[in-house]
Amino acid sequence: MTDRLAAVVLAAGMGTRMKSELPKVLHPVAGKPMIDWVLDAAGSIGADPVVVVTAPGQDAVRKAVAGRAASAVQEQPLGTGDAVKPARQALAPMTDGTVIVLYGDTPMITAATLSRMVEARRGPDAPAVVVLGFEPADPALYGRLVLGADHSLERIVEARDAGPVEREIRLCNGGVMAIDAAVLFGMLDAIGNANVKGEYYLTDIVGIARERDRRCAVVTCSPIETMGVDSRAGLAAAEAAMQARLRAAAMDDGVTLVAPETVFLCHDTRLGRDVTVHPHVVFGPGVTVADGVEIRSFSHLEGATVATGAIVGPYARLRPGADIGAGAHIGNFVEIKNATVGPGAKANHLTYVGDARVGAGANLGAGTITCNYDGFAKHRTDIGAGAFIGSNSALVAPVAIGDGAIVGAGSTVTRDVPADALAVVRGEDRIVPGGAARFRSRRANPGKD
Ligand code: UD1
Ligand code: MG
Repeated sequence: MTDRLAAVVLAAGMGTRMKSELPKVLHPVAGKPMIDWVLDAAGSIGADPVVVVTAPGQDAVRKAVAGRAASAVQEQPLGTGDAVKPARQALAPMTDGTVIVLYGDTPMITAATLSRMVEARRGPDAPAVVVLGFEPADPALYGRLVLGADHSLERIVEARDAGPVEREIRLCNGGVMAIDAAVLFGMLDAIGNANVKGEYYLTDIVGIARERDRRCAVVTCSPIETMGVDSRAGLAAAEAAMQARLRAAAMDDGVTLVAPETVFLCHDTRLGRDVTVHPHVVFGPGVTVADGVEIRSFSHLEGATVATGAIVGPYARLRPGADIGAGAHIGNFVEIKNATVGPGAKANHLTYVGDARVGAGANLGAGTITCNYDGFAKHRTDIGAGAFIGSNSALVAPVAIGDGAIVGAGSTVTRDVPADALAVVRGEDRIVPGGAARFRSRRANPGKD
């Protein structure tokens, strides 16, 4: 037997219970389409090629996987045994090795489990089929794994076809099978549909292999890994399970999550060592946080990079292109978009920085706004190192504030301010001694004055 390994991902089910325009397997879990989780797992154990089986109308799925997997179309949903058939052509030159069959709607499956299955397949007695078994809390409609006296797998009985004794079996089919390619392609056509559902069951391949004197085996995993998504409630359950996994991995890597169950991570969130994430923080895609950063409560980050020792939040919003320098402070109700904030710079309160550069050590007072949009185009604001922007200033882009410059509070800056200059752009003040008292007395005694 060679070590060749291919994968077939079944995704031709209609997913009607999702009640969605989006094909089921493209619904995201932790920000990544669930089929991508499956393709990643298959890819990381070296499966090549990988063939995704779709239904005729699912161009969106074929498009989404193009470049990383081949696609095949199952014309009618006649069962999992039938679903593998259209993949045969894509795998045609494959006469030996292993084909691992997975479902596109089980995002929790891990590469570690798949590789245990492949190892078992390549074991000394080379089982024809290795099935992923698990013990669900409620076996319900899962296929039951019938073991022989030697604990090898005799056959799989689908719940609807099981008798009372078989229905008592707790060990169920998790849906993943690693199959000897020669057996799969040699015996696929022997699978019939004489069962309660009138479907071609891929699970029948076990019984067929046994009849031909080939051994079959079971590798078990936790029920989490076999979680399938059929509905929005199932999607939420998978999201919760994936979040739990991502949080555990972050904490394993040296991140403090003060209240892990309130922090939402994305598949690609990268958090350094000694990062502290306070309760209720949401990470969208594309966030990288360096060592020692503190992310305070109620912050939302996506497409952002935060350098060592910075403090973000509470109530901060980092949008795509936010690049926060080492030791910088981004405080409450501050939004940063497509902007570099230099090391040690501070924007502590109520500020919008968009399409900008903020130099090292600059200080943006409360209510500083970069006016980056004129209704037609976006323009840049450049704030030099050590500049000080007084509170409630509007910097009307394109505009540059030089290094070390000071902008007086309440300024509306439309022209560049040179380095070390002071700019105060506001209406002249008029203070009239006794003016208020005179005004009040006029109002109280109309006509007398
Ligand atoms: C299947 C297994 C069952 C196992 C369970 C685990 C069979 C016969 N039964 O049952 O033993 O316990 O999964 O979840 O295999 N699909 C197609 N084309 C089809 C039918 C299905 O692509 O014609 C795909 C579906 O999109 C889905 C997967 O195959 O991703 C499984 O199909 P599903 O109908 O959920 O199978 P179950 O009845 O749950
Ligand atoms: Mg199912």
